[in-house]
Amino acid sequence: MGAMAMKRGPSSHARLLRQVVVISVVCLALYCFLLVPEHSLNASRTVPEPFHYAGSSSGSQQSPPRHPPELLNNRFLTTSQCAVAFPGLTKEIDDVVAKGPFTLPRNPHTGLGPLVARVRDGKLSILSYARRVDLSKDMLQHRSATLHQIAAALLTAPVSEPVPDTIFAFNHEDDPHSPSFSYSRPADPALDTPSKHFFTIPHFSFWAWAIGPIGSFSRAASAISTLEAHLPWTAKDPRAVWRGTTWFNAARAGRLRQDLVATARGRPWADVEALHGNRSNALAIEDFCGYRYVVHTEGVTYSGRFQYHQLCGSVVLTPPIAWMQHLTHLVKPAFSHALDGVTRTPLDTGAGSGDLVPYPAPWVREAWPTAYDPRRDANIVFVAPDWSDLEATVEWLERHPKVAEGIARRQRELFDGGGYFSPAAEMCYWRAAIRGWSQVVRTDGQGFEDLEEIPWEEFSLKEIHK
Ligand SMILES: *[C@@H]1O[C@H](CO)[C@@H](O)[C@H](O)[C@H]1NC(C)=O
Repeated sequence: MGAMAMKRGPSSHARLLRQVVVISVVCLALYCFLLVPEHSLNASRTVPEPFHYAGSSSGSQQSPPRHPPELLNNRFLTTSQCAVAFPGLTKEIDDVVAKGPFTLPRNPHTGLGPLVARVRDGKLSILSYARRVDLSKDMLQHRSATLHQIAAALLTAPVSEPVPDTIFAFNHEDDPHSPSFSYSRPADPALDTPSKHFFTIPHFSFWAWAIGPIGSFSRAASAISTLEAHLPWTAKDPRAVWRGTTWFNAARAGRLRQDLVATARGRPWADVEALHGNRSNALAIEDFCGYRYVVHTEGVTYSGRFQYHQLCGSVVLTPPIAWMQHLTHLVKPAFSHALDGVTRTPLDTGAGSGDLVPYPAPWVREAWPTAYDPRRDANIVFVAPDWSDLEATVEWLERHPKVAEGIARRQRELFDGGGYFSPAAEMCYWRAAIRGWSQVVRTDGQGFEDLEEIPWEEFSLKEIHK
């Protein structure tokens, strides 16, 4: 007994000392590398209330650091500061760069396909672009939002790390295009082969999405923070929420949205409705966070709403994600089929019992090889894509409130607290994307020199509004 106590004493002291040293070093590193100069720390500004979760669940992994607003709004971070603040931020870029060099062919039909632009001496100019008359107002807004993001990333590059000269292609359509900067890429490795070069980029809505329920990203994020600060898990609506148009479907997803509405409409665990034509039942994007469960559906490709749902301290329930956006790799799914007692019930369409689709499908096993422990690590729940276990999954989570709350908390702690959607992270990502692209793209001999250059400043006045 005594000997054991003697033995335990020094080792626990050593452990304590080690912890103190590690914490001190981390704090010092954060302080030295990341914080902006003293005077701006003292500037008077509204600092958002710290986010508190009602009752913390047991057995959870260590939380990611909660960065101060001074860091999250600092658009001038260097590459090493970015890496310290946002581990894993640039995985998508690192992966596509690792595929090696490729040639950016010049499209003989100038104005069709992705926009082509040049970075030279840190300045942006446009070489080839779809004419204003050929794009809808929405498309013009999406294209211009992304070009503004790129221009901002160039303007805020640290003097010590100039962004290299390059010529890049940027695809503003939903469907990814290779090689180009695209809003998503297929998760299925059979569709993202070694010869494909999709550089996934932050969604245009990180600049702004000028539609009613969203507006700017900063507006939505701050509305969500306010809601979350005043709404503990236990006070959230215990149902699963979804709104959307049902005609909008990916070919490979079949009748995903119609089936969701048919499965959930009028059920006590669901607040799921197809949007009325007059949009009278639309929800502001922050109001989804008022529910414990948020159902997520992809569309023709990725869904531009995903990042807003990821800011919620709610459990996102989604069929396995088929389109990777720039940070989708941070998602840690628990699979519904692994929850004990959750079984599938086919949708009764009236024409006899329905069939169950394969789940997880073979492509899912390849795209999402790791299933995470819902009690420790998971920050999202994947359900069967025919919704046949949606009800059982919601009921399981309601029977295991600590588990559900932990999944919800880990999601918000990562994407909000960890700052992955912050202006600082976005600028870090964009500079990494342009740098990565410049390392592997080959543009010689394609005739880009023959194209007239329009400086971004001029383009931004002439070609971005309908
Ligand atoms: C909107 O449309 C729905 C369904 O079509 C209808 O029930 C509702 O009364 C309409 N609301 C308004 C304000 O027009």
